[in-house]
Amino acid sequence: MSDEDRVEECRALASTVRSFRHYATSAGHDLNAWRYDISDERVGARHAALFRGELGQAAKLEKVEAAYRVNARFLDEVARYTPMMEGPSGQGAEGEDGSMDRDGHGDAKNEEHGDGCDEGCNGHSTTSQGILGFTGAELDSAISELDRLMGVAQVGPAEAERVRCVLRSFAREWSADGVQERAACFAPVIDRLCELFPAPERRRRPPRVVVPGCGLARMLAELVLHGFDAQGNEFSFAMLLGSSWVLNGSASRGVEQGMTIHPWCSSGSNHARSMDMFRGVRVPDLHIGKAVEAAWKAVEDWGEGDGGEPPLRPGSMSMAAGDFLDVYSEASGEEGQWDAVATVFFIDTAHDVVAYLERIFALLRPGGAWVNFGPLLYHYSENRVAGVAGHPSDDSLSVELSLEQVLRAAELAGFVRQGDVQMRPCPYTANPKGMARMLYTCAFFTMIKPA
Ligand SMILES: C[S@@+](CC[C@H](N)C(=O)[O-])C[C@H]1O[C@@H](n2cnc3c(N)ncnc32)[C@H](O)[C@@H]1O
Repeated sequence: MSDEDRVEECRALASTVRSFRHYATSAGHDLNAWRYDISDERVGARHAALFRGELGQAAKLEKVEAAYRVNARFLDEVARYTPMMEGPSGQGAEGEDGSMDRDGHGDAKNEEHGDGCDEGCNGHSTTSQGILGFTGAELDSAISELDRLMGVAQVGPAEAERVRCVLRSFAREWSADGVQERAACFAPVIDRLCELFPAPERRRRPPRVVVPGCGLARMLAELVLHGFDAQGNEFSFAMLLGSSWVLNGSASRGVEQGMTIHPWCSSGSNHARSMDMFRGVRVPDLHIGKAVEAAWKAVEDWGEGDGGEPPLRPGSMSMAAGDFLDVYSEASGEEGQWDAVATVFFIDTAHDVVAYLERIFALLRPGGAWVNFGPLLYHYSENRVAGVAGHPSDDSLSVELSLEQVLRAAELAGFVRQGDVQMRPCPYTANPKGMARMLYTCAFFTMIKPA
């Protein structure tokens, strides 16, 4: 990575860390606006009295403010766990990537990769201290620079939305609120992988599976408990900070019982009961370190006399930060090294989905499997700028194929489909108690790379 790219990258990380730390400020803007909207000046004295009195809107906003404060504490905690490389800093440098050793603790994992994305991570050589590839001093300096440019504690609307999105993802992946969503999408993929690699095979040698776009890494953690050596890949700094905290930091920082977050407090729409807006959920609902430890204990305690099949050893976990196509490029040495690739709500994040399919194919060993679950909500389709014909940016590239075309492209890449394509309903970061739920009809299929 060039020096210029490195500075750019560090700025993107600094912007994410700032947006976590300064959540309270952007939250304050929301509250001020909501309060202003129930003032005499805005709606007249009669309605303002109603909102403040009988209808309880002012009291509701007090509770929302308290919920924001709780979220701010949580996000500050996550940001303080930012896994930096060694170097002088006010930042915590104790973080690591998501690898698990047999005690359920983080372990070193090195990954090399190239460049690639805007708000996210272009990829770095990592040490055991820093999957994000920067020292604390570098980060501190990039944060100070942004403070100077934007004003201390000020974050842009896009950054503020990104943080809200992380809170909703925490609810989906790591809280009891997300149980149904996870059962709809992660469970079928894990079950399919377990069918493809039955327990005796997993006992002999843990199959190696990559999970590109792993978000906050819940499915990754579950795969480890099912005896897979699982590697997550993610390019969003916000997600990387979140998964780093949840996989390693949540226990080591003395929050073993988890923390409360209020994922739905930033929108006043679609709540049946006022209290649903500031409803809290605990995260994480599964402590992966302890679960790995318990799984190892079960393996050690098991004896022939116990009958049945011996328990499965948990696999190893690692995280590769950066753009999928860069991290697993031809030059990465990863081709043919993987038994499976599992994509959930991921393939539509491509500029050119065929590039993803061909890369997935290349990563698999002969006989390896790609299991996919998700819709085709092409992430870059909104970026196309019709007016700049002749000078389109890389970010405006978006080739939107139908499912039929994606399946054909997979065949052309060399895959052979195993079984039918199932179409399954699944929400994504939906509020289970909300009055609106967006339901995707997701394609669930398995492709095999011929042996
Ligand atoms: C829709 S989310 C799905 C997250 C997770 N798989 C789930 O189902 O909850 C897509 C994820 O892919 C990540 N992502 C998008 N493009 C990526 C890329 N090119 N390389 C790595 N990760 C990417 C995003 O940051 C985001 O976390």
